[in-house]
Amino acid sequence: MEITSAGNFSCSLKAELKREVTSDSISAFEMAALMIYVVTQTVMARKTSKGSAEEFFPDKLTLPLLREAAADCKACDLWKRGTQTVFGEGRRRATVLFVGEQPGNEEDLTGKPFVGPAGRLFDEALVEAGIDRSQTYVTNVVKHFKWEPRGKRRIHKKPNAQEISACRPWLEAEISVVKPKVLVALGATAAQALLGPKFRVTKQRGEFIESTLAPYVMATSHPSSILRAPDDETRRLEHRRFVEDLKKLARVIK
Ligand code: URA
Ligand code: SF4
Repeated sequence: MEITSAGNFSCSLKAELKREVTSDSISAFEMAALMIYVVTQTVMARKTSKGSAEEFFPDKLTLPLLREAAADCKACDLWKRGTQTVFGEGRRRATVLFVGEQPGNEEDLTGKPFVGPAGRLFDEALVEAGIDRSQTYVTNVVKHFKWEPRGKRRIHKKPNAQEISACRPWLEAEISVVKPKVLVALGATAAQALLGPKFRVTKQRGEFIESTLAPYVMATSHPSSILRAPDDETRRLEHRRFVEDLKKLARVIK
């Protein structure tokens, strides 16, 4: 085997590969070189691929199979930082599907979406609006908790565009299986992931938006942003606006 330049290396190896089929004269060295080539190509292909959850999809798209497959997802680097994949939860034929940003600290530890402080606020608001959580499906745009250490605490960090796009296929699959009558984005990350980067929750919250995703689509604020309100007065006001938006959903699902 002749290796003339780096560029010719793979060509001559491919030629070797062909020769191997017709000849049994390949040496141990050539075989080793061939194996190194194959391994390098595979690693390079993985590194250069942008990463999409779709690479981890099961053969059949059902919620239990998707959840199982998502548990092993490595389509972006967030799996290294989070404890586990937090997949969506709820009825398979839920009328309303809510989409948050990403799991928080408690969600990361329990593996369930919206169970921490934001989840508790969300549950209370659903009750106030007359929506039964058992009628809903709740999930997030990104399925792993992205955090930074601050002292002993793990502080939430916003997912970036690459992480959002890598993870999006899980969300799309959930929407396509559940086929909700009403799809609700909670906060700007979910709203922009579902409705495009130009969408402004501050301007368009609480309005039903024309979309092919579901018969009724709406964005509202994120329960965490209500918790972060600077004072009690603002928090009460934001909570009331949130419940008002949820009541609009309650009317269309009745
Ligand atoms: N915030 C989210 O966006 N999702 C959760 O699951 C919890 C908090
Ligand atoms: Fe996969 Fe999403 Fe987790 Fe990234 S955040 S590893 S895409 S499940």
